[in-house]
Amino acid sequence: MLGSSAQSRPAWTAAPLPPAVEPGAPATHDWTFEAAEREVALLGADAPPVKAWTYTPEPFPVLRVRRGDRVRARLVNRLSEHVSIHWHGLRIPNAMDGVQYLTQPPVQPGGSFTYAFSPPDPGTFFFHPHCNESGQVGRGLAGILVVEGDERRKPDRELVVAVKDWRLGPDGRFLDFVTPEGASRAGTFGTLRSANGRRSVTETVPAGADLRVRLLNLDATRVMEIGIDGAEAAIIAVDGHAIAPVALDERGLETWRMGPAMRLDLLVRTPKPGGTARISDYFSAEPWTVATLTATGKPVRKAPLDPAILTRPVFPEPDLAGAERLAYTFTAASDSIASYAEAIGEDSVRRVLMDSLCVRDRTFWAINKLSWPNAADPRLPPPMAMLAAGRTYRLELVNATPHPHPIHLHGHVFRVLTSSIGGKPVYAADTVLLSPKERVEIAFVAAPGDWMFHCHILEHLETGMMGYFRVV
Ligand code: C2O
Ligand code: CU
Repeated sequence: MLGSSAQSRPAWTAAPLPPAVEPGAPATHDWTFEAAEREVALLGADAPPVKAWTYTPEPFPVLRVRRGDRVRARLVNRLSEHVSIHWHGLRIPNAMDGVQYLTQPPVQPGGSFTYAFSPPDPGTFFFHPHCNESGQVGRGLAGILVVEGDERRKPDRELVVAVKDWRLGPDGRFLDFVTPEGASRAGTFGTLRSANGRRSVTETVPAGADLRVRLLNLDATRVMEIGIDGAEAAIIAVDGHAIAPVALDERGLETWRMGPAMRLDLLVRTPKPGGTARISDYFSAEPWTVATLTATGKPVRKAPLDPAILTRPVFPEPDLAGAERLAYTFTAASDSIASYAEAIGEDSVRRVLMDSLCVRDRTFWAINKLSWPNAADPRLPPPMAMLAAGRTYRLELVNATPHPHPIHLHGHVFRVLTSSIGGKPVYAADTVLLSPKERVEIAFVAAPGDWMFHCHILEHLETGMMGYFRVV
């Protein structure tokens, strides 16, 4: 990213993406996930193993399907508390969305549940449970789902990099995942940074080749500022959805900010033989190397980098002319209104009672002055708004706090239309990072169901910054 002289904009930045290719006959994938405690060498081979929670024998499995394939995923719970699988970013039927109490009963210890769906969008996605997320994802309960079918030209290599911090003491035991100081501010940070369950990723790659990097921020708290040095690269997709490529250097954007749950796909032209490129997080003064790529062999390609390898996304484009407008402000919890029950009235409050894995005993945050229920009143609240299926909604999101919040809407892909800060290309996402004081507008076509809408800093959603829309 630290370029010497200013170069002109590459020719490929303006070219429109070609239309998607219709998928062929769908394949069927039958998976079994056993959520269980397993010993993992997170601190290295010589250090004590860590008792992690994972869905599969290895942490962070990377599962691959093609767009339109049929997935049947059986979840078996071998843990001591209830779990689920939420398929983050996937536009699948609401009953498969994996939110305990809202879209399905919790999968209790010893119990099971089978998710069946066809991913409609290609891209880089992941999955995780939806109650006690700070504790369950904090111990490792998550996986990666790559949905193929968006490439019109195959890159020479692909690399998946999932970043996550661990809150571990030197003895290999987990520290408290939630602290009041963290939960009420920017979050409780890990003590050990990792990429793909290691200290960082080091890969030997073919020289002069096109490498697709699928980068995922699976941390509970951390905001990263991703850049690259030692290689030419372009951003080709955001949250899995292709964009007109943007150079990741001084000709385009030098870095891209990724909050928890956000993904970024890069096309990297690997260095000359013997050369090294580094993908780093430049958020703090001391950059952290996410991945080191060392090139070997004869250069694969001679022609200059052309990162336009993806086809156009297929999610429904919002109809802005007919859009209904809604506005949401994210704040610290107000003292005047304690809960939905008081604000909306006892009669409209649903009677479902949630347990301590889905509510916390403290509340710090609110959306439009309402906070997700806490232990004092653990009833599933009514929706934030009733929406009409098929209609376009244009939401104004305002961050009235001094902290960043990655705001996620389940089951939809939204266009990010405007930002009071600006400087971003045209893109679509399922999670948008609101910087302190930032105002952003998003738009989406509503799909039927009850869809969660929350900050993806896990302590924030657990302490109030969460609600849901009912689309009928
Ligand atoms: Cu990854 Cu409710 O979200
Ligand atoms: Cu937040």
